[in-house]
Amino acid sequence: MAVVVSSSGNAPAFKAKMTVYVFVCVVIAVFGGLIFGYDIGISGGVTAMDDFLKKFFPSVWERKQHVHENNYCKYDNQFLQLFTSSLYLAALVASFLASAVCSKLGRKPTMQFASIFFLIGVGLTAGAVNIVMLIIGRILLGFGVGFGNQAVPLFLSEIAPAQLRGGLNIVFQLMVTIGIFIANLVNYFTATVHPNGWRIALGGAAIPAVILLFGSLIICETPTSLIERNKNEEGKEALRKIRGVDDINEEYESIVSACEIASQVKDPYRKLLKPASRPPFIIGMLLQLFQQFTGINAIMFYAPVLFQTVGFGSDAALLSAVITGVINVLSTFVGIYLVDRTGRRFLLLQSSVHMLICQLIIGIILAKDLGTTGTLGKPQALVVVIFVCVYVMGFAWSWGPLGWLIPSETFPLETRTAGFAVAVSCNMFFTFVIAQAFLSMLCGMRSGIFFFFSAWIIVMGLFAMFFIPETKGVPIDEMRERVWKPHWFWKRYMLAEDDHQDVEKRT
Ligand code: BGC
Repeated sequence: MAVVVSSSGNAPAFKAKMTVYVFVCVVIAVFGGLIFGYDIGISGGVTAMDDFLKKFFPSVWERKQHVHENNYCKYDNQFLQLFTSSLYLAALVASFLASAVCSKLGRKPTMQFASIFFLIGVGLTAGAVNIVMLIIGRILLGFGVGFGNQAVPLFLSEIAPAQLRGGLNIVFQLMVTIGIFIANLVNYFTATVHPNGWRIALGGAAIPAVILLFGSLIICETPTSLIERNKNEEGKEALRKIRGVDDINEEYESIVSACEIASQVKDPYRKLLKPASRPPFIIGMLLQLFQQFTGINAIMFYAPVLFQTVGFGSDAALLSAVITGVINVLSTFVGIYLVDRTGRRFLLLQSSVHMLICQLIIGIILAKDLGTTGTLGKPQALVVVIFVCVYVMGFAWSWGPLGWLIPSETFPLETRTAGFAVAVSCNMFFTFVIAQAFLSMLCGMRSGIFFFFSAWIIVMGLFAMFFIPETKGVPIDEMRERVWKPHWFWKRYMLAEDDHQDVEKRT
């Protein structure tokens, strides 16, 4: 499967306009990101709603009623966590399937499959009468996420005019944050609707899913996808349509030759295991581990629950989640602005220090002032919310978008989609781990959980410092020469590969 992503700097300047058609396609496709964000944000609010708990998790609800019960453990229930996490496990499996569908059938049908999975999943979760329906619904939503997250970023990269490609990549993350924010708002308003507020909240995902379904009927297939499936004439036509100019021959030829090179690699997954693939492969996987072990989703999934833990009433807790949602959206714009100016490394390093300080302050306040029972004093609770917000800011302009951007720009063409599929599924795996384990960890480690995430932030900061090279402005197909070969550590794999090729040539 070939993805032609432009190089910045000395990229060939193909003629292209930002056509209305491309704009419409982008607007429709990013609804995939919005649904993903909505699903991330909605579960925390729903699992904090009494009507929902009484119906599906009566034991958790019982426990919540006992005011003297342990603060940190009132939500600890494996089934409750499974409600949140099953989606990510399903998405992990689905992303491999999606990568095959994406290359065999195209990006457009993959998005259509995603929207159908989403719609059935929404129907089952919002209409659930028992826990089995609820979990099956979440699994189908997970399939939607797996298909959507594989197809949408590739689709965006392939239809965008080259000079807008980097910014458009982060628009996907922006839509994820907007989805989370809308979900937080919906949670806030539906929490007061009894007894079916949770059904409205879960059912809300149907709106973007319907938009994606009908929208994906009018969007185009990408030229790359058509050409790699030997539909060259259709590909040329599609290219002319999305570029809005007649003279598309040069770009067309470049896609054809990229597809030819990529088609010579019969098994991109095997190629990923070769030494020369190691730097982007290892970095791509570790970025996902680190992104999730910043602890961000402990906040995104469980913000309302977390805020209730430190002593907010349910309303105030939901409102605080809305505030973190707004901050997440706004700070992503900072990322879009800075990523090609200050570079990736600066953002990763700055935010590691920034997030570390926040986690430590939150941990210290909780350790000092929140016992197993009782609540935090008003001033301390406020300080906790403020530092949660400052922490979210740091994540939103660094490890959030860069966790997706770096794997999409560091693999060579022949392993790009396979490498990206592995990165997506690693992300889903570690998201699953956090979703499944966080409430139990909160119960077992109490405020120590924040020190646990702090330790991870130190590790990832050091990793970024020594092992993540700057890729700002480096043409995407020159990573090997300009980034990996001169790198103090990664160069050993490049040299090994060169030796290997020499030997192959000689024999
Ligand atoms: C992460 C999600 C996270 C979101 C928060 C994304 O980059 O992959 O797991 O919930 O950012 O904005």
